[in-house]
Amino acid sequence: MLQPNKEKRTVLYLKKIKEQGEKLSAITAYDFPTAKIASEAGIDLILVGDSLGMVIQGEKDTLKVTLDEIVYHTRLVSRSNTLSMVVSDMPFHSYHVSIEKTLENAIRCVKEGGAEAVKLEGGRKRFKMIEAILNIEIPVLGHLGLTPQSIHRLGGFKVQGKKREVAREILEDAIELEKLGVFALVLESIPLELARKITESVKIPTIGIGAGRFCDGQILVFHDLVGLTSLYFPKFVRKYADLNGIIQEALKQYIHDIQTGSFPGDDESYHLQKDIDAFIK
Ligand code: KIV
Repeated sequence: MLQPNKEKRTVLYLKKIKEQGEKLSAITAYDFPTAKIASEAGIDLILVGDSLGMVIQGEKDTLKVTLDEIVYHTRLVSRSNTLSMVVSDMPFHSYHVSIEKTLENAIRCVKEGGAEAVKLEGGRKRFKMIEAILNIEIPVLGHLGLTPQSIHRLGGFKVQGKKREVAREILEDAIELEKLGVFALVLESIPLELARKITESVKIPTIGIGAGRFCDGQILVFHDLVGLTSLYFPKFVRKYADLNGIIQEALKQYIHDIQTGSFPGDDESYHLQKDIDAFIK
């Protein structure tokens, strides 16, 4: 395995990765220890995703996540002084009402959370909001294809861009988002041929999740990647560890050790000094 490089990941770094034809790595994280591990492993970008609604809060979708929650989790992540670039995922309702509200919310992600960029879902319907955020010097990560905040309109978590009209719209939106100035694009659940076309059509990096191997980078939800959930796994997830199984085994052993009296042992306990020992007896 390659030794992770120690360069701080920034928008310029990510751009350079694409120019050099290298691939970038991204995961979600929602807390300090995970962010620290990710940074030390060499992950380029950490997204404090609104997927936290599902993997942390146990909701069936991402819609109930609030801006306060994203700001809070971003603060936990950014406190790890990570080399990875930290991006706050702006939740549903935080950039849909007015430009003013959108700007206030994006600013909170940076000022209170410590984010280095924000992510917004959607294409043409969101251009105005994205442009306004870019104009106040906050970098924006775009997100096209399956946009989970639109599941009610889309009719569920479904692959997008299989039909010509929708594929064209996604491609046009990608090109326009690059013109607006987003620094990278998440492409979620689209056919790999469409992801390839988009990746070849823009100079900014594309980061795929369920979008095949031609993207400039990949992102996965941390809990899926390390098997820390026993929930449903989409086809595109590769499980690199079974933390659920490992933790189950550890907890069963712990229960066993308590019940058999082997935990805590003498060396896991505090002892009185000898003279006081005599006094207690
Ligand atoms: O919220 C999230 O975790 C995301 C990724 C799946 C891209 O948006």
